[in-house]
Amino acid sequence: MMFRIASVTLAAVMLVMPLSISAQSKDPLSFNRLMADPETRNAPPLKDGIHDPDNPATDRLQSPREAFSALPDANAGNYVDWVEALQDGLINPRYDLQDPDMSPTVMDLDIVREVKGSMPDVVFPHKEHTEWLDCANCHPAIFIPQRGANPLSMAAILMGEQCGACHGRVAFPVTQCRSCHSRSKTPADEAATQKEAQ
Ligand code: HEC
Ligand code: HEC
Ligand code: HEC
Repeated sequence: MMFRIASVTLAAVMLVMPLSISAQSKDPLSFNRLMADPETRNAPPLKDGIHDPDNPATDRLQSPREAFSALPDANAGNYVDWVEALQDGLINPRYDLQDPDMSPTVMDLDIVREVKGSMPDVVFPHKEHTEWLDCANCHPAIFIPQRGANPLSMAAILMGEQCGACHGRVAFPVTQCRSCHSRSKTPADEAATQKEAQ
């Protein structure tokens, strides 16, 4: 269900790409989130390059900055920590479009993926995903439901596959390395990695 909505939004975003690219070319630094002026974040509908500024109804839409002001901050994406907002009960999204009484089947299972080299290991939390998403959004099309069965790589993720099917599109972007690479290696792991490097 969620995934279908996500792809509609994606299609809408892609349709307006030329518009936002031309807006970006005026400010050569805007591609870099750290150098972008905070005032340009979550622009109001009239200036977001997505809504039609000539439509008289656009002006009546609530600005995201106003809508998000009561929600916990994040430092990328649309600057809201959606996981915390949901867990703190600040938002209560409907799980199913048709059935208002439907609630998610939450599964609390972390999958740790060991990473070679100096980056911390990746922890994939089922809990935080299944609070929003049905199993069928990921299994079996994106990931075979078996620990270690999927050859995951950062290159594929950056190309918009695997975790990148959502991260950077509808969930926090790939620039937030530590959100996924969250488990420090044990001293024994570190020693083994160093040996390998020698
Ligand atoms: C956002 C994507 C996503 C969603 C949604 C999701 N999973 Fe997974 N699941 C994964 C990933 C990633 C793995 C790890 C695969 C790997 O290591 O190769 C995994 C692994 C598993 C495994 C294997 C565990 C093991 O120890 O071998 C099972 C079983 C599983 N998922 C069941 C479910 C069920 C049931 C749901 C719904 C309640 C669900 N998953 C929802 C991404 C997801
Ligand atoms: C089907 C979409 C989808 C896929 C695929 C997906 N995620 Fe997510 N992920 C989400 C959504 C939605 C959230 C919650 C919104 C947010 O945090 O931006 C989330 C949140 C997270 C969080 C935050 C948990 C917290 O406590 O804040 C982590 C970590 C994460 N994902 C890691 C991964 C990793 C690693 C993979 C690949 C193995 C992956 N995700 C694949 C949709 C997805
Ligand atoms: C959405 C989750 C996510 C984010 C964000 C993320 N990674 Fe990864 N990363 C992964 C997963 C999953 C793997 C594969 C782990 C495995 O081998 O099983 C990986 C693997 C890697 C590897 C090992 C080599 C490879 O290509 O597999 C490196 C290095 C790496 N990531 C660096 C980074 C850096 C640097 C950032 C931030 C710019 C980053 N990652 C952000 C999920 C993420």
